Amino acid sequence: MPEAVIIGSERSEVGLPTGMDVLRRGGSALDAVEAAMRRCEDNPADHYVGTAGLPNAQGVVELDASLMLGSGRQFGAVAALRGYPNPISVARAVLEKLPQHSLLVGEGAALFAAENGFSTAELLTDASRELWRKQVVQSRESVEGENTAATDGDTRYRESALALIRRLAPHDGPWGTINIIALDSSGEMCVGVSTSGYPYKYPGRVGDSALPGAGNWCDLRAGGAACTGRGELSMRGGTARTIVDLLAAGQDPSDACRAALADAATLPDDFRAELRALALTPDGRHGGAAGQRGSVYALMTDASTEPEFRPRSVL
Ligand code: GLY
Repeated sequence: MPEAVIIGSERSEVGLPTGMDVLRRGGSALDAVEAAMRRCEDNPADHYVGTAGLPNAQGVVELDASLMLGSGRQFGAVAALRGYPNPISVARAVLEKLPQHSLLVGEGAALFAAENGFSTAELLTDASRELWRKQVVQSRESVEGENTAATDGDTRYRESALALIRRLAPHDGPWGTINIIALDSSGEMCVGVSTSGYPYKYPGRVGDSALPGAGNWCDLRAGGAACTGRGELSMRGGTARTIVDLLAAGQDPSDACRAALADAATLPDDFRAELRALALTPDGRHGGAAGQRGSVYALMTDASTEPEFRPRSVL
């Protein structure tokens, strides 16, 4: 029987003890990942997932989340979901209650959430509204003041967004999407990903967190992997799937993550921002990689009293 283990990206430590409690009681990897991720999504200090997540360019919070099981590669996801604080649970409902589909977006995802009894909530907190106001509204006003030739619609958005992204200061402290991967005592694995996406994104933009193969992949024959950071790169690199393919070829989790990130790093990208990855194998080996020194992932096993942190390997 495998030893239960749960790992997660930066800031998942808020939820991992809840997930480990589920695993200790003999609960499933799916239950553990959902329970752990809900704690993260409900954390008002976290501006990258759930309630308090940073909004799109128009100031509306749109959330992406997915869950994938290793045994049958069942996948459920929602994207650009507005008004529901726990997209991970709506993704689970898609996985379990709508097996003819895998991914719902926007209005359809909200309709499905309502039909399945999920409650709506205000996701834009005072703090996240203030960040949006300072970083987007004020910055856009100053860009538009300089650029009197700006045209309407998409072109205007692109010009101001490009200038905004160039001006944004690097994030302080741990940031980004949350990944959580669990192995339960029955040997099942589950990968969960949740995010408010690229801060101040174009409305309707969907990132890698909702997309199998890009931000999430799980196959019990080799392992599970997930990504945080610039989703457009992991979509183009098929990064989570690449990592699991490398695990299947015999690489260890840290090397597999580093090789997949190195491949994504070869892609041309004007908006280049860091991509990070994590992986766990069905026999409980784990590892991660990042583009910058000092980044870590969190880990709990049956022996843990609290989350422990492990360094990610660096590209
Ligand atoms: N990795 C999260 C996103 O790009 O939305």
